[in-house]
Amino acid sequence: MIYFNEEKQYFHLCSGDVSYVIGIEREQWPVHLYWGKTIKDWHNGAPLSFDEFTFSPGPFGDDLRFSTDTLPLEYPSADAGDFRESLLGVEWEDGTRVCDLRYKDHRIVQGKPMPEGLPAVYTEDDSEAETLILRLEDEAGALEVELWYTVFAAHPAICRSAHYRNKGAAPFYLTGACSANVDFRENELDLITLWGGHNNERNWERRRIAHGTNEIGSIRGASSHNFSPFIALCRPETTEFSGDVWSMNFVYSGNFKAVAHASHNAAVRLSMGLNEQRFRWKMMPGDTFPVPETVLVYSADGFNGMSGTYHELYRTRLARGKWRDKERPVLLNNWEATYYDFNEETLCSLAQQGRELGVELFVLDDGWYGYRHNEHTSLGDWKPHREKFPDGMDSLVKRITDMGMRFGLWFEPEMVSVDSDLYRAHPDWVIAAPGRSPYYARGNGQMILDLSRNDVCDYIIQSLSDMLQNPSITYVKWDMNRHMTGVHSNALPADRQGEVSHRYILGLYHILETLTRRFPEVLFECCSGGGGRFDPGMLYYMPQTWTSDNSDAVCRLKIQYATSLMFPAISMGCHVSACPNHQVGRSTPLATRTTVAMSGNLGYELNITKLSDEEKQCIRRDIALYKQIRHTVQFGRFYRLLSPYAGNDTAWCFVSPDGSEVVAMYIKELTEPVPQTRLLRLAGLDADAQYRDTATSQVYGGDELMNSGIAVPYEKSDFTERLWIFRQC
Ligand code: DGJ
Repeated sequence: MIYFNEEKQYFHLCSGDVSYVIGIEREQWPVHLYWGKTIKDWHNGAPLSFDEFTFSPGPFGDDLRFSTDTLPLEYPSADAGDFRESLLGVEWEDGTRVCDLRYKDHRIVQGKPMPEGLPAVYTEDDSEAETLILRLEDEAGALEVELWYTVFAAHPAICRSAHYRNKGAAPFYLTGACSANVDFRENELDLITLWGGHNNERNWERRRIAHGTNEIGSIRGASSHNFSPFIALCRPETTEFSGDVWSMNFVYSGNFKAVAHASHNAAVRLSMGLNEQRFRWKMMPGDTFPVPETVLVYSADGFNGMSGTYHELYRTRLARGKWRDKERPVLLNNWEATYYDFNEETLCSLAQQGRELGVELFVLDDGWYGYRHNEHTSLGDWKPHREKFPDGMDSLVKRITDMGMRFGLWFEPEMVSVDSDLYRAHPDWVIAAPGRSPYYARGNGQMILDLSRNDVCDYIIQSLSDMLQNPSITYVKWDMNRHMTGVHSNALPADRQGEVSHRYILGLYHILETLTRRFPEVLFECCSGGGGRFDPGMLYYMPQTWTSDNSDAVCRLKIQYATSLMFPAISMGCHVSACPNHQVGRSTPLATRTTVAMSGNLGYELNITKLSDEEKQCIRRDIALYKQIRHTVQFGRFYRLLSPYAGNDTAWCFVSPDGSEVVAMYIKELTEPVPQTRLLRLAGLDADAQYRDTATSQVYGGDELMNSGIAVPYEKSDFTERLWIFRQC
């Protein structure tokens, strides 16, 4: 998988059908030569560096045409002749900030080394991957940087990370830390990013790259609803099914930045790493610092090709635990059904009704602990509410599990209410700047616990473990509902305050590692006001995420469509909720809400006891249908067919792992004034196979369904849907 040509000093990395070529320029600079469709060998010897104007100072007095400012670098240094984005920042003891990294040596190891304390793509056997480790050193000798590149036999993806070590005798500060960079020697490219907000996560945005710095990121203490740690470049002609796309996705859940910098010399630098705002890390002699990993995916087959690689890799080698390969249960969540207003009886009647309709997991959301009747109190006091549960929680859990359902519980472990026993006992445990007024969120008293402290992490682990001692609790929804302000820890000295944001995330990962190992039977679902922390870092610990608090079927089309750029359907929580919708006030047919929710892990979040008999009948039928197709939806190959960003219709399809079943879904937003029959062309089928439509028994050829398409009949109504199941015959 990894070949080194000693004579010509280049590395050829082959990952699936993708090649990545790195050269060592003048024996000192690792340079980027190629990333794309697989090639047999590398012969291109064209010069890489030019600067005829000598405005960019170079390292060779006798060759002023050589400039690191135009060199396609694998890991650009700081203040060392390259005026584009640096991948790292260093502040030495004497105040200087120069860091001039030069190649020293390399090694190639079998398998994939794992960074300590961080989430990362893993292997189950060393034969699955190979890793190239390039060792670089700063000219002055104190900083050593290892660049790790892992390639896989079965996945056309490359994982990159950087590992710093202070090998000098004095401390210094890191002021920037990125894991991956690719310098493209072309700039006729489009840039893809995902922007959003609460209730409106991950909107797909595509634009021609402009000269200068095109940056997205987060300084919120979480990857956030606002931008996803994902960035891609593609050719102007790239579509869902054809054309080149190069992408990066950061395996991290906190502050990040992704940059596409188009420079004067028709080149684009694409990089991913920690956001240097809110980051300053003290490196004592001997200290090491691993930068979280970035997953690089290239596809020659457009965005669907790229997504297919992410989906397979993330589903099988990023998500972990017993639930990774298990079908996910259909759940009923009480949040939008009751909000804070419930007791054991109301919950049991909801659950009973759910059970009768086929629900497999009942989830008790916010409001079950402390004396929480609204959002102002009790976060941190993870003990059952005495008025709502006079007999404790065990009685409710038993009643639900006796009905034959699983039981799940909501927590928001990283938070504390000012009005709580926890805050009264430990006011110093929150993140807040001393001597300044605190900023609150959600009502008047929600603060963030300082997860950079071990004692706080221990408290969270202990309080959740106490609740999870009841083995009948087999699901946890892990919520997080505010962003970080006044970033300061009472446990760290002044010169380490710049470490708080990253230490918080390391603390969070430690807690999650401990709890997921201690409670392997529990299915953990990530949530941050919906999809505010839907990132690969969290996926490593929790195999599914509540995609968005917005469960309106129309809004969900765009949200789920763009989320699927990197994340597989099995990682998306999708619920049917009441109408008018609580977030946007829209009414859509139950069938449409259901089809959209069936595109991920199906759940319900409404008061089903209040539905008409006819609606209950529909839900009973829908859940039964979902159980039939969920293996294909959750473990199959997914293709986006029609984009909600392009028009009125959205469509996608799932092909089962063995190819024998195809589930296609189509949703039309507004009806057209002129009746028309749309032909929907499917993808991923066997062109030579025959498929039977299970509803009509009509048989079609795979080639026919992919090239001519299936007819979508006209309906005189807004928000209509169609769902087809085809089986090979
Ligand atoms: C935000 C979540 O996204 C919702 O689903 C719900 O759990 C509320 N928090 C509860 O406070």
